[in-house]
Amino acid sequence: MKLKKGVNIIDQHDKFGFYCNGKFGGNFVAETARKPIEDLSKLFEKLRKSKKFLKKRDFYFKHYLGGETPFFKLNNLTKYLGGAQIWCKDVSAINGDAHKAYHATVNALICKESGKKFIAGDTGAGMFGKNLALAAKEMKLSAKIFMGTKDISRQAPNVKFMREAGAEVVPVDSGSKTLVDAVSECMRHYVSNCDTTHLAVGSAIGANIFLKICAWSTSQISRELKRQLIREFGEIPKLKLINVIGGGSSALGFWNEFIDYDKKHVELIGVEAKYAAPLATNAKVAILHGAAQYCLVDKEGQIAETHSLSAGLDYPGSSPLHGLLKDTKRARYTLASDKEALNAFKLVSKLENLRPSLEPAHAWSECIRIAPKLNKTDVIVVNNCGKGYKDKKIYIENIGYYPK
Ligand SMILES: Cc1ncc(COP(=O)(O)O)c(C=O)c1O
Repeated sequence: MKLKKGVNIIDQHDKFGFYCNGKFGGNFVAETARKPIEDLSKLFEKLRKSKKFLKKRDFYFKHYLGGETPFFKLNNLTKYLGGAQIWCKDVSAINGDAHKAYHATVNALICKESGKKFIAGDTGAGMFGKNLALAAKEMKLSAKIFMGTKDISRQAPNVKFMREAGAEVVPVDSGSKTLVDAVSECMRHYVSNCDTTHLAVGSAIGANIFLKICAWSTSQISRELKRQLIREFGEIPKLKLINVIGGGSSALGFWNEFIDYDKKHVELIGVEAKYAAPLATNAKVAILHGAAQYCLVDKEGQIAETHSLSAGLDYPGSSPLHGLLKDTKRARYTLASDKEALNAFKLVSKLENLRPSLEPAHAWSECIRIAPKLNKTDVIVVNNCGKGYKDKKIYIENIGYYPK
């Protein structure tokens, strides 16, 4: 299996929504949701070609999310690690504090275009939920956010944001009480209400159209990064692009514009949480949330429970698009433990004025591991995709402080 050059990775599926000769993706959806999902697919294909819609999206990205996020060299960390140049694409500087802002905004715009007044989404870390609540408020939509009760408790600051923005937070107390159950419950709600409700899936997962909308929205990150690299270096230098992976939306956005480059030129490195790492541990392919994907399963083939200190990474599945990138060897996947992520937070926040959330702290951990083995001409860019305020309590409990 080879990736097609010049074709956006999101479009490299067959007519049934499968990638990689039928191995990943597809549309395993309830019969009753088939028609609304088909309608949404047609609407999205129309909108992504519409100049008027693209202008509206760009207007919101600029004036509501704050425009281009910063890209800068981390001189202190580079000097301390003594190898590769370390650069940061600070997506956490967006008005919304995480890449989920792109995806939430686009979903709210699509919901408006569809004529629906209700929007439903899932959230783990609360970053997608918060951004969906804010976008819904801005566009006068009524939002329901499904969230596991364990996550409601560990990501309380974001729950407060959602409620203050007027969204209904629906607690999900089944199963592991985390993201996997929140997604299931949100999808159940959609199946019963699909005539009036737009479903905004919180990562690049789900039936084909949902992961396409998500990865299309976050690809703004790599469009910006490409321009910024050319501004800084005059060309695309030899790069390693390091990104954390939960469902995979942040990485797909960070990598989208670079997938056609040779991997010796632009290496793509995904970092999962140690006990929620289907890609890095060569897990089985299973069907979860409407799509076939690398997924952690138990001995009986049932979806396995995961563990991560990070609510955004505590998920057993992975985007079908990451399955494709893994099987074609275009990206490589590795993992970081809770402890490694916490240590990375300590070092990065000590040396630099950055306060990554627990999710990108995993990406920083891989950067810290590999940078000393590389040369000064090597350029590492880490996507710092979320702000740490939501994890302040967890950081204090585990490392004893949260820096100013
Ligand atoms: C800041 C941040 N980064 C990463 C993730 C992981 O999700 P994804 O892999 O879809 O980007 C999350 C999930 O909530 C998040 O909030």
